[in-house]
Amino acid sequence: MANIVIVGAQWGDEGKGKITDLLAEEADIVVRFQGGSNAGHTVKVGEEVFRLHHIPSGILYPDKLCIIADGMVVDPEVLKEEIEELQKRGISVDGLRISENAHIVMPYHRILDGIWEERMGKGRIGTTGRGIGPCYADKSARVGIRMSDLFNQEVLEEKLRINLEEKNLLISYYRPQAEKLKMEELLPRYLELGEFLRPYVANTSLIIRQAMKEGKNILFEGAQGALLDINYGTYPFVTSSHPIAGGVCVGAGIGPKEIDKVIGVCKAYTTRVGGGPFPTEIKEEIGNLLRERGDEYGTTTGRPRRCGWLDLVALRHSVEINGMDSLAITKLDVLSGIPKLKVCVAYKFEGKEIQQFPTDANILSRCQPVYIEMEGWEKIEDVDDFSSLPKGAQEYLRKISSYVGIPISIVSIGARREQTLGWKSKGRGYFWDRIVVDTVD
Ligand code: IMP
Repeated sequence: MANIVIVGAQWGDEGKGKITDLLAEEADIVVRFQGGSNAGHTVKVGEEVFRLHHIPSGILYPDKLCIIADGMVVDPEVLKEEIEELQKRGISVDGLRISENAHIVMPYHRILDGIWEERMGKGRIGTTGRGIGPCYADKSARVGIRMSDLFNQEVLEEKLRINLEEKNLLISYYRPQAEKLKMEELLPRYLELGEFLRPYVANTSLIIRQAMKEGKNILFEGAQGALLDINYGTYPFVTSSHPIAGGVCVGAGIGPKEIDKVIGVCKAYTTRVGGGPFPTEIKEEIGNLLRERGDEYGTTTGRPRRCGWLDLVALRHSVEINGMDSLAITKLDVLSGIPKLKVCVAYKFEGKEIQQFPTDANILSRCQPVYIEMEGWEKIEDVDDFSSLPKGAQEYLRKISSYVGIPISIVSIGARREQTLGWKSKGRGYFWDRIVVDTVD
């Protein structure tokens, strides 16, 4: 029995979809605990590519329960499309469960997301435009609509009345030409969406706790990344949830002592979408090279991602705030063929060298990266073990592990499941229990 948490160790897009997919094989239940349709998890199975926004990647296996837990915000229009798309491609969604407490992203949240961004001008966050911030804001303000409200016309109507009054006022102030949102359109549509989703809705926290008592294996799948956490990330350039391991407890309804292992997924370099400080961003041609070779375009928005060198200062911060046990390094192959690689080991701030990650965006934006240079490697073949990697790649991995002080348990060298060290020789499963690179190696 094990309860494993997978989190993004950077600014999202670390390749969590693939790692979750690998680990999900051994899990009975896969749970998403925060975020919403701002996430886009890409999983490649054979030649087929699946892009998931709400539904945990575990759905691609036939026998798993896949849970959208309380801490998530659900856009029923998007989720309905996602379910129908999976069904069309022959994937069963019978194992899907959605928390009755999950908050609903409404059309006015998407509109307000855009308005808030416009108002911030140059300081805009660069959100995914999915209404995530306004939905979590309503949740905190206690005026949000929850999944179970979609089954009760009276309750839904009353909540809509309160919200439409306020939101229409705001929208018409900032967008005088915009049409008002109408009760007579929204109420029947959201009741209808509620009926569509109803078979999947349940008390998911109870299901999870019960499964724990039965000794089931549970995998908690984080979306976004630790540096986008609303408390510990680069505020305000963050998302509105807690994509860190601590988010599992509040987002899925379990106690902290139930978590057995935390695995942080970290790309061999760094990317970021949207605004905000990014000390190791590469402005030269090599940044474009990484973007093209790594296919660094947003799954949800298609936006080109900003690309940069690996930042070990940021990574160590992430390791610590998540209490990570080990790292999964992804996309190592993308760095092949670059003769010299830079790795950031400190920042220079006001003439002093610092090794602590400042979460004040203003300070971080004034930090200069201090790099070491490492030898690159020509090419990574589809090898299965650490010792068959080119020497440069071995050194690179050792450097990461020794700097952050935790081992590496998974190394991914390509998009496919079998392009993962140890996958062929040992069979799939229990990746979380392995050590590919130890800190004392
Ligand atoms: P929001 O979550 O749409 O409000 O966006 C807030 C910030 O988080 C923006 O910088 C987004 O680009 C970023 N973000 C949100 N979701 C993801 C994701 O899944 N991957 C990478 N960045 C994300």
